[in-house]
Amino acid sequence: MNIINRVELLNISKAFGGVKALKDVSLQVLPGEVHALLGENGAGKSTLMKVLSGAHQKDGGKIFIDGEEVHIRRTSDSKKLGIGIIYQEFSLVPDLSVSENIFLTQLNRDFWVHWKEMTQKASELIQRLGFTIDPLQKVSSLSIAEQQIVEIAKALSEKVKILILDEPSAVLGSKDIEKLFEIIRGLKEQGVSIIYISHHLSEIFTIADRVTVIKDGYTIESHYINETDKDSLIALMLGRTLGKMFSERDVKPGDEIVSAQNINYKNRVKDVSFSIRSGEVLGFAGLVGSGRTETAEALFAAVKKDHGTIKLNHKAIKPASPSDSTDLGMGMVNEDRKQKGVLLSLPVSQNITLTNLRSISNRFGFIIRRRENKIADDLIARLKIKASDRDMLVGNLSGGNQQKVAIAKWVNRGSRFLIVDEPTRGVDVGARVEIYSLINELAEKGVAILVISSETTELMGLCDRIMVMKNGSVQGTLLKNEFSEEKILRLAIGLT
Ligand SMILES: Nc1ncnc2c1ncn2[C@@H]1O[C@H](COP(=O)(O)OP(=O)(O)OP(=O)(O)O)[C@@H](O)[C@H]1O
Ligand SMILES: [Mg+2]
Repeated sequence: MNIINRVELLNISKAFGGVKALKDVSLQVLPGEVHALLGENGAGKSTLMKVLSGAHQKDGGKIFIDGEEVHIRRTSDSKKLGIGIIYQEFSLVPDLSVSENIFLTQLNRDFWVHWKEMTQKASELIQRLGFTIDPLQKVSSLSIAEQQIVEIAKALSEKVKILILDEPSAVLGSKDIEKLFEIIRGLKEQGVSIIYISHHLSEIFTIADRVTVIKDGYTIESHYINETDKDSLIALMLGRTLGKMFSERDVKPGDEIVSAQNINYKNRVKDVSFSIRSGEVLGFAGLVGSGRTETAEALFAAVKKDHGTIKLNHKAIKPASPSDSTDLGMGMVNEDRKQKGVLLSLPVSQNITLTNLRSISNRFGFIIRRRENKIADDLIARLKIKASDRDMLVGNLSGGNQQKVAIAKWVNRGSRFLIVDEPTRGVDVGARVEIYSLINELAEKGVAILVISSETTELMGLCDRIMVMKNGSVQGTLLKNEFSEEKILRLAIGLT
């Protein structure tokens, strides 16, 4: 007997203006299967899922659910069919509470709102997922990881038989990813089909039953996970094999560029001190919520520190805002590219040159387009940013390509001290190598670099030293010859 596919997408195509995001994509997902979708940044993964969820209209092709052709014209159609989706970009409303967000779509339907019941239900949903978040809290006050959990709770608040997760792990720490996998296994047992998008091959090999690779809008191949391996998948996805992930830097750390003494911020950052020399890369390791981002934000004056001294080139500085910090020679690539990293409604070119208006304007302050265009074109080529041209709005780029733009902004700025928070979040394996070599290149030019990352291998490959934080305090600093995943983890969880 043939098993009927839960979902079948057949020869799907979709263009945005002149950009053909999907040319001919087919995908089959069985009931109760975890099916991974793999492909480079801009391959068309999110677009395909948006076609299935009704957020986009397909141009051609057919969609079948349980063997029957369906017509999904809007998101409410997909909901009725039992399709739940967690988008790569968050869709929560920051000013509403957790429970209001979870039941947002239901709110529109019911005239009468049972606030108490809603709060109760939200809290149950979150607890079932293994987390504790106050349902009355505003979403804007949650960490990104917590927001992701709320997204999942929202998708599960209605009965789903197909759940799409578009890079759900990108914002979660390793412990939370484990919890997410338990949730997925539980859903699978109930027969829910899951489509899982991630750039982390290790996750795919842990959770998926099958994997489909798409490239440039075409389906390449589907495989059972136990019949393939990482290298073959990378080769399918990139169309080439991958070179060395990390390379040696050709630079000896020089003079001290930045020093931070006893930085304090609320009770989230406690007496953090460190210094970085020119050409040196320092890493911040720690669990989500350990205070790494807050420390960086206090340095960059994105939040107001309570006390502490910052010196740049041996001179005490007191930036009052991020733009002060930028003027003083600091730069920061934020972890949350959607909220702070890039301006979605501006073109790629303006995003890239925004931090560096002086270099593209004449002495009267007028912007010289020619210069702006040249800088933008150079960086688009160097970072292989997949945009139709420099005028494309950043909001229309794929998630990973938005991340590249967020980094490109700082390359030309000539900052002496650069903070990069989760630089490769959502970035495909090929682009990772490009971002790592860019960081190396900046260090070789003498920039002092602070890298915050939840990926231990990334820190070990990039950094000269790694500082581990827990609950806002520094637990220890490891030198290159002391690096090991175990040591970092022990410090991060407080086992010394
Ligand atoms: N609204 C839009 N307007 C124009 N082009 C778009 C739009 N949405 C997506 N695209 C383009 O379609 C292509 C596929 O994008 P998509 O977001 O599906 O990629 P992806 O595989 O999800 O990549 P990533 O791994 O970076 O998230 C990209 O070239 C992207 O720039
Ligand atoms: Mg995507």
